[in-house]
Amino acid sequence: MSTNTTDNARKVTTSRLVEMKARGEKISMLTAYDYTMAKLIDRAGIDVILVGDSASNVMAGNVTTLPITLDQMIYHAKSVMKGTRRALVVVDMPFGSYQGNSKEALASAIRIMKESHAEAVKMEGGAEIRESVERILCAGIPVMGHLGLTPQSINKFGTYNVRAREKEEADKLMSDARMLEEIGCFAVVLEKIPADLARKVASDLTIPVIGIGAGGGTDGQVLVMHDMLGMNDGFSPRFLRKYANIGEVVNSAVGRYIEDVKSGDFPSEEESY
Ligand code: KIV
Repeated sequence: MSTNTTDNARKVTTSRLVEMKARGEKISMLTAYDYTMAKLIDRAGIDVILVGDSASNVMAGNVTTLPITLDQMIYHAKSVMKGTRRALVVVDMPFGSYQGNSKEALASAIRIMKESHAEAVKMEGGAEIRESVERILCAGIPVMGHLGLTPQSINKFGTYNVRAREKEEADKLMSDARMLEEIGCFAVVLEKIPADLARKVASDLTIPVIGIGAGGGTDGQVLVMHDMLGMNDGFSPRFLRKYANIGEVVNSAVGRYIEDVKSGDFPSEEESY
């Protein structure tokens, strides 16, 4: 059932997300990369649309998120913005657009906001990128943090396994999360970490904590659209719930179309002028 009731038709803002957390209302977030999907999920009532750099994987077919460029992210973000009325739209800052220095980071964030009209950016990392996050926040651009498994650092980690199982990494994650809240981030994504740790972070922070593979104790959940719709054959991590099998639907529809074209059944008299 759609959750798009009159009350829910109110535009989602960063401050509304903080209010949702305060009253215990869970936040729903999904990725989208194009106009049509953004329009569909916005009308279905999603709270936050993430223009994720996972576009590098699911749209462009790259093995990692590293190759996607700032121009490509802006292209996806512009398309999503055209289809979105209610949801808050957050855009991932791509690898290489903010790690160099804080002035370059600000210039990248400004390009995203100016050219796409999106409402916030997301950045991976903690203390290492503090200066860049602060500079972007000072310019009035809302920032969502991202800790735990940060796919832009895959070459450092070496695997996509669960992060922060050991105390030292868990302590750093907690202190990074507190720091991101303290400097003014409006939310934090926690990816693929133990559920107990994610629950602790969510109860420690006032800002919303959105989980992916981080258990049920966070203030909201995010999934990659192509994964939850069953369009990404072969990707079935434990944290993923598939809500449809669109891969199968497409395969069957295209199979029937090919048969009808080959047999001459399509188009019929009624489908012709
Ligand atoms: O790029 C992305 O889709 C993400 C989500 C997995 C949180 O960062």
